[in-house]
Amino acid sequence: MCGIMGVVAKRPVSQLLLDGLKKLEYRGYDSAGVATLVNGNIERRRAEGKLEKLGDLIKERPLPGTVGIGHTRWATHGKPSEQNAHPHATNLVALVHNGIIENYQELKQELEKEGYHFNSETDTETIAVLLTRSLEQQKTPEQAVAEALPRLKGAFSLAILFGHRDEMLIGVRRGSPLVVGYGQGEMYLGSDAIALASLTNKVTYLEDDDWVVLTPKGAQFYNRGKLVSRVVKQTAFSGELIGKGEFRHYMLKEIHEQPSVVGNLLKHYLQPQTRLPHFPSLAGQVDWNKIQRLNIVGCGTAYLSGMVAKYWFEKYAKIACNVDIGSEFRYREGCFIAGEATLGISQSGETIDTLGAIRYAKQQGQQTISLINVPESAMARESDVVVTTMAGPEIGVASTKAFTAQLTVLACLVIDAALKRHQLDVKTAQQLTAELLETPAILAQLLGKQDMIHKIAEKMTQAKDVLFLGRGVSYPLALEGALKFKELTYIHAEGYAAGEMKHGPIALIDDKVPVVVIAPNDYLLDKTLNNMEVVAARGGQVILISDRQGHERAKVGVHHRLEIPVNTHLINSPIIYALPMQMLAYQAAWLKGNDVDQPRNLAKSVTVE
Ligand code: M6R
Repeated sequence: MCGIMGVVAKRPVSQLLLDGLKKLEYRGYDSAGVATLVNGNIERRRAEGKLEKLGDLIKERPLPGTVGIGHTRWATHGKPSEQNAHPHATNLVALVHNGIIENYQELKQELEKEGYHFNSETDTETIAVLLTRSLEQQKTPEQAVAEALPRLKGAFSLAILFGHRDEMLIGVRRGSPLVVGYGQGEMYLGSDAIALASLTNKVTYLEDDDWVVLTPKGAQFYNRGKLVSRVVKQTAFSGELIGKGEFRHYMLKEIHEQPSVVGNLLKHYLQPQTRLPHFPSLAGQVDWNKIQRLNIVGCGTAYLSGMVAKYWFEKYAKIACNVDIGSEFRYREGCFIAGEATLGISQSGETIDTLGAIRYAKQQGQQTISLINVPESAMARESDVVVTTMAGPEIGVASTKAFTAQLTVLACLVIDAALKRHQLDVKTAQQLTAELLETPAILAQLLGKQDMIHKIAEKMTQAKDVLFLGRGVSYPLALEGALKFKELTYIHAEGYAAGEMKHGPIALIDDKVPVVVIAPNDYLLDKTLNNMEVVAARGGQVILISDRQGHERAKVGVHHRLEIPVNTHLINSPIIYALPMQMLAYQAAWLKGNDVDQPRNLAKSVTVE
C-alpha cells in the first residue's frame, strides 16, 4: 500500500530517502513526504502527487539532516493532499505509516479531550500525538513506543523520528512488512528489500510485533518488551534486476521476462531425467490423496489464476475445487467438510484479504498452502506449506509475469497431484509436461508480434466498452484480459463466458463494441466460434485470438485476427494466450498516454481490507 523508508547516517539523507522511495513508488503514489532533523528540530517537505513533485520541492527548499524518514502514500483515511501526506509530526516526533489504525477514532477522541489538536484527516496522526503525550511526560522514545503499541489496533508498520535525537530511528512492524538494512556506519529501514538494494544487500526482516531501535552503529530488536535477536540475510536484489533496463516501462520489461521466468520454473519444478514434477516443500507435508476438496483463494489476477487451476485440478487430478475471492471466502461462513485444504495465491504474499482467508482456513482446521512470489512475506510465514513462483520483483502495478508464473507452477502442481492420486499415468503426465516445456519458446515467438497487436490496440482505444469472451480455461483468461484492459486504459471492459452472452450481455453489442474472442484450438473451439458468430451477427467488432486452424474455421464475422503461431494444449494455452491480452492492454494504455506502471487510484500490494 504505502512505502516507508528511513536512514540514520553521518551524511545528508534526503537524497537517499528519495532514491529509496522511488523504488517503493509502486506501493502508492498519490502523495509523498520526507522529514529530517535539522539542528535537532523536525523539518518536513510534503507534496501531493507523484514523487517527482516532492523531488522538485526539495530542490527548491533543500532539506539537510543526517537522520530522516520518507513515505509514498496510497490514501486510505483522508484524500490525497499535502496536509494528509506523511510524515505526520508534532514538535517532538515525526512518523510514516503503512497500514490502518482501526481504533484511531477512539484514540483521537481521548487525545482531543486532553486538549491535543489534529491537522489531518488521517489515522496516522493519532500515533504521532499518542507518542507526543508520552514524550511530554518525560518518557524516553523507547518507553513512548512501548506504551503506544498496545493501544493500537490494526495491521501496520512505522518508521519514527524523534526531535533532538539525531542518532536514532525506531521501526515497528505489526502485520505490514518492514526490513532493516545494514550499511557501513549507517542503517536503513524500508518497506521491502528492493528499496534498500542500492544501499545494501544485508537485511533483517522484522517479525510480527517486533520493533527496532536503529543507530548508525546497528540495530536492537524488541518483541513485546523483550530484547530479541534476529537473523541477518543476504538478498539477491541488484540494481539491474529491479531497474527498467532497455524498456520504456516496468510492465513491458516484465512481459518480456516471461519466457525466461516460465522456463526457469519448469527447470526448477520438473525433474531433468523424468520430466515429472517434484515439489520438495510438499514432500511429507501435503498428501494429495487425503484432500477431499481444495479451496483456492486469491484476489484480482491471483484469483483468476486460481480459476484456471480449478479447471485443471478437476479435470486431471479429480480434486473438487472451490475458488473464492479472498475477501468473500473469509466472511461468507461457507460449509466445510473434513479433509479440505486451502491454497492461497498471491504475488506479494501481503494482500490482506488473501492473508485473512488463509488465517480463516487455519481456524477451520484446514491445511494451508500458499503460492507466492515473495518468500519473506506474511503469507509465507503463516502458511503450513509454501511454494514459490520465483518470478523476481514485479514492479508494474498490473500483474503480468506473476500471473504466468502462477499458472506454470499450478500446472505442475496439478500434474503432481494427478500422479499421486493415480488419475494420470506417467506417460500421459510426461506428454503434459512436454507441452509445458514448449511454452517458453512460444511466448518468445509471440513477443515478436507486437506490430499486429499495436494496430488492434489502436482501434480499441476509441471504444467506450470492450468485451472479452472465452470458454473453459479461456473463460478466466477473458476475465483477466478485461481486468488488465480496464485497470490500464480506464476503458470499461468485461469478461464473460462466451456461452453466457445470450443470457443478457449480448444486449450490449453494437458496431462500436470491440469483442476479443479467446479461442484456442481445444474441445470447445467450435462452440466458442458459434458464440462468436452470434456476436458478429449483432455488429460486434470481433478480434479473434486463435491458432491457424482456429482462424481457418472462423470464416465469417472476424474484423481483426491475431494468430498464435502453434497449436496449444489445455495445459499451456492460458499461459500462452495471456501474453497477447497483456500486450493489448499495455499498448492501448500507452497510446492513450496513461501511466502504464502506476495506473490511477491503484497500488501494487493491497494491505487494507
Ligand atoms: O499480490 P497479490 O497477487 O495478492 O495481488 C492481488 C491483486 O491485487 C493483483 O493481482 C491485482 O489485481 C493486479 N493489479 C492486477 O493486474
